[in-house]
Amino acid sequence: MPRPTSTRRTSQLLNHIALVTGASRGIGLAIARALSAERCNLILTASNATALRKVSRELASAKIKILAHPCDLRDPHSVDDLFRAIRREFKRLDILVNNAGIAHANLTVDKLPLPLWQDVIDTNLTGTFLITQAALPLMKRGSTIVNNLSIAAHRVFTGSAAYIASKHGALGLTNTLREELRPKGIRVIALMPGATDTKIWNTFWPQAPRKKMMSPATIAAAVVSAIRLPPNATVETLEILPTVGLL
Ligand SMILES: NC(=O)c1ccc[n+]([C@@H]2O[C@H](COP(=O)([O-])OP(=O)(O)OC[C@H]3O[C@@H](n4cnc5c(N)ncnc54)[C@H](OP(=O)(O)O)[C@@H]3O)[C@@H](O)[C@H]2O)c1
Repeated sequence: MPRPTSTRRTSQLLNHIALVTGASRGIGLAIARALSAERCNLILTASNATALRKVSRELASAKIKILAHPCDLRDPHSVDDLFRAIRREFKRLDILVNNAGIAHANLTVDKLPLPLWQDVIDTNLTGTFLITQAALPLMKRGSTIVNNLSIAAHRVFTGSAAYIASKHGALGLTNTLREELRPKGIRVIALMPGATDTKIWNTFWPQAPRKKMMSPATIAAAVVSAIRLPPNATVETLEILPTVGLL
């Protein structure tokens, strides 16, 4: 007699260990939620400790282990402190999602203050470098790195020079890292979302048409399906746009 088919599937990511930066809201929070549904153990980070505690409470479950540790990824000491905590709790990392990022007020290059330029480059580009460099010794064959870039990694939008430069730079970092890690069997995915409905838009276009945007959960679903591919296959560039295209 045929056995009844079960609707429950075993997650391929069961017991994996994932670090998500910028996990307190927006796309990072959606990715953390989607990974927790796959029964991944999670390390969640962002700079705001209170927001992080709230997310950790939301995702807490007997089925997964969560470490929520605040970190300002612009600061090498803060990144060291995060990785000390990670090494204490977990012996390895299977998934790294470099997601944290900031935008800036719409200002043409002639009006862009140096501190703002530096803040955006330090967060989006150097922060990704610092976290990745600290994570690599914990990552083995079969692991995956997802760098949340943006379509701004290969297109330009006037008034966003620091953001565009940081994302173009992060694409260069991502592409180089992929070739360095290919022989080690570690996959590197360049995630390039278009407009997604998060708080980041308040910085440079508060009146942007939110209804035309994708939801963070849509991006998270695409990321998780890319990570769930067998280790001998990879999505190198994951570009996702609203059906209407650019806003
Ligand atoms: N929304 C879009 O349309 C879109 C499209 C393409 C790509 N992206 C990219 O997606 C990523 C996430 O953005 P989002 O739209 O989800 O924005 P968001 O809602 O503003 O979330 C940004 C996250 O980054 C964290 N973060 C910012 N600065 C940090 C720092 N110095 N140290 C540690 N964490 C920091 C924030 O937490 P704290 O404030 O607590 O630090 C927050 O968790 C960014 O890299 C962004 O460029 C967004």
